[in-house]
Amino acid sequence: MALDIIIGAQWGDEGKGRITDLLAAQAAIVARYSGGDNAGHTVTVAGEIFKLHLIPSGIIHPGVICLIGNGTVINPAVLLREMAALAARGVDIGPHRLKISRSAHLITPAHVALDKAKEAQRGKDAIGTTLRGIGPAYTDKTGREGLRAELLADPEGLADHVHEHIARANDVLVKIYGAETLDATAVAAQFADYAQQLQPYLVDGSVLIDEALRHGRDVLAEGAQGTFLDLDHGSYPYVTSSWPTAGGALIGLGVGPNKVRRVIGVAKAFTSRVGSGPFPCELSGAEAGRLRGTGENPWDEYGTTTGRPRRVGWLDLVLLRHAVRINGLTEQVITKLDILSGLEKLPVCVAYERQGERLQHYPTDLRVLAECRPIYQTLDGWQENIMGARTLADLPANARRYVEFIAEQTETAVTYISVGPGRDQVIQV
Ligand code: GDP
Ligand code: IMO
Ligand code: MG
Repeated sequence: MALDIIIGAQWGDEGKGRITDLLAAQAAIVARYSGGDNAGHTVTVAGEIFKLHLIPSGIIHPGVICLIGNGTVINPAVLLREMAALAARGVDIGPHRLKISRSAHLITPAHVALDKAKEAQRGKDAIGTTLRGIGPAYTDKTGREGLRAELLADPEGLADHVHEHIARANDVLVKIYGAETLDATAVAAQFADYAQQLQPYLVDGSVLIDEALRHGRDVLAEGAQGTFLDLDHGSYPYVTSSWPTAGGALIGLGVGPNKVRRVIGVAKAFTSRVGSGPFPCELSGAEAGRLRGTGENPWDEYGTTTGRPRRVGWLDLVLLRHAVRINGLTEQVITKLDILSGLEKLPVCVAYERQGERLQHYPTDLRVLAECRPIYQTLDGWQENIMGARTLADLPANARRYVEFIAEQTETAVTYISVGPGRDQVIQV
């Protein structure tokens, strides 16, 4: 009947995977529309933890079809590993359930090698990418030299294309970066093998979604990364190479805007970021350690994909207002509210200060952003453990106030609050 879009409202890792899993129960199709295996989405069902990188987070619901959309970049080796790991855990990943858009692009070992070489060359200005080859694969796509998934239908043809692509990349790896070359023949043979395995999964993703919508079914678009990693609307150049925002969902799936019903922004109750780049509310020392956790809980702030400790800070409402506007959010979901339990005071950034001026809007110019200092309004905390709360009434008054404050300041309703990683640890507002 309609398309609902789930979007990260911050710098990624907001808990999009677990919210997708929650809402997937009502969907016919769950589709990833951008990014690749730079994403790490965690779904926890009955204490079992699933870490998904490419396969949509709807896969844990047996009846849901999962589509890897045209806006994504797919490393076939990673996809096949992820499929095998899920199959080993009893998840059905057959071609009737898992689909790959023919127009998605492929990531090769050359893209990974180029990502590493470019990051090494950037030195202290490194972006802190996930080194998964994402940037180079999208560069080939926009440069009209990419390898589309449709080539998987013809293993020998793909092998020829891959051979040529690796040979070209080797030239760049050696001449520009002084890096090691790849064995074009071996990689080409590998891709012919991937093609044999993956060709049954190829579909026209746009048609698949359209048919579901025509049959009165719901489709859920699962964002990867977050608004501030968006190539146009994030903290450029410290961003990813795709469009995690709502516009990216339409292009990345081949769906028109008239089909969209809800645009759901997912935000953590505080802020985190992996990799380099500006972060006005960033904390250090003991305060940061308190929000990050020590790593002993599975939800502590260490990257799902890279294991890197995430940078953390207080909630930044300047960011959320930007996310509301850029994405046209119709509602918000606040995750990890439980992490704030036990803190006496909760500073929340309501605006930035720059050269004596108060800024309500996120400045897109990094030089301006670098001069911004957060203006905090401090709310009272609560001491109770709230991981068992299932209704608003179960939350302490100050926890309810914290969420109301977010809704007021962003002029956008909060429809779900999550208080733990488990499927049931959610409050519907
Ligand atoms: P995504 O990339 O947006 O899907 O988020 P990640 O999965 O990378 O990171 C979110 C982490 O927080 C995961 O370990 C989740 O299991 C966990 N998580 C999600 N929601 C909650 C919550 O409400 N409370 C707690 N404690 N953990 C949560
Ligand atoms: P999910 O979907 C957090 C960050 C990287 C780096 C920048 C560019 O789990 O929220 P890339 O490898 O994409 O070229 O890296 O983007 N990044 C993410 N940070 N969560 C993610 O995904 C991310 N995907 C990329 O850390 O700063
Ligand atoms: Mg993640």
